[in-house]
Amino acid sequence: MSTPQQRLHGRTAIITGASQGIGRATARLFAEEGANVVVADVNAEAGTAVVESIQADGGTASFVAVDVTDSEQVQAMVDHAVEQYGGVDILVNNAGITRDATLKKMSEEAFDQVVDVNLKGVFNTTKTARPHLAESDHGRVLNAASVVGLYGNFGQTNYVATKSGVIGMTKTWAREFGRDGVTVNAVAPGFIETPMVDTVPEKVLDQLKGRTPLGRLGTAEDIANAYLFLASDDASFITGAVLSVDGGLVL
Ligand code: NAI
Repeated sequence: MSTPQQRLHGRTAIITGASQGIGRATARLFAEEGANVVVADVNAEAGTAVVESIQADGGTASFVAVDVTDSEQVQAMVDHAVEQYGGVDILVNNAGITRDATLKKMSEEAFDQVVDVNLKGVFNTTKTARPHLAESDHGRVLNAASVVGLYGNFGQTNYVATKSGVIGMTKTWAREFGRDGVTVNAVAPGFIETPMVDTVPEKVLDQLKGRTPLGRLGTAEDIANAYLFLASDDASFITGAVLSVDGGLVL
């Protein structure tokens, strides 16, 4: 149920990669705050479950199967939001993948796959949603960067290149979209407890916790809260920013 007190009352948000992890937490939080949420993901089974859980709590959401690397599917995703809810106010470019290896062992295929999803996917969705965001009175683009995009990381040539690239696109679009009143910001999570970090060895995670002033890994909700702030009217004069949400891991 959407009420005027909710921070995203009546706004429409497309969230890519919303079937699990940070995207799912963001979809649930945005729906709690009154948004119409389009859960967009390649994983239909998990995405449908997210929609059902939002609806069970009285929120408004629908699922769209989309591979963000496919511009026709991205167009269908944006068309769905416009037909179903009348426009697009918020785009959360959250879908992302890793294919880690040192440069010595990284295949060209692994490089291309990560660039396709994490960088080209963000280009596809933002280019397609842009005219609708420009028509909104509260247009927002929120991009998933990473602290590794700012500082680099062993074994992540492809991933780091995309996250640095996302930061560059964020700053470029902040300049280009400002005239339409659309803000563009990035969140740079530290290490967050989601299926994405399942492959990171326990020993490495313990070391990371030890190096984090707040002494723990992040939760998906920690990142969803940052997206909510940047999507809300409280952040209406913030654009081109990269907000680190990492417990102080990188200072
Ligand atoms: P996750 O792996 O748990 O979820 C990613 C979601 O994206 C999945 O539902 C997956 O099906 C979807 N997806 C993958 N490829 C797709 C495609 N081509 N089209 C549409 N959907 C696709 O990941 P997590 O941890 O929730 O991360 C979300 C974002 O946050 C990613 O961009 C990631 O790079 C970024 N991030 C995550 C960190 C972490 O520690 N978990 C740290 C820094 C950034």
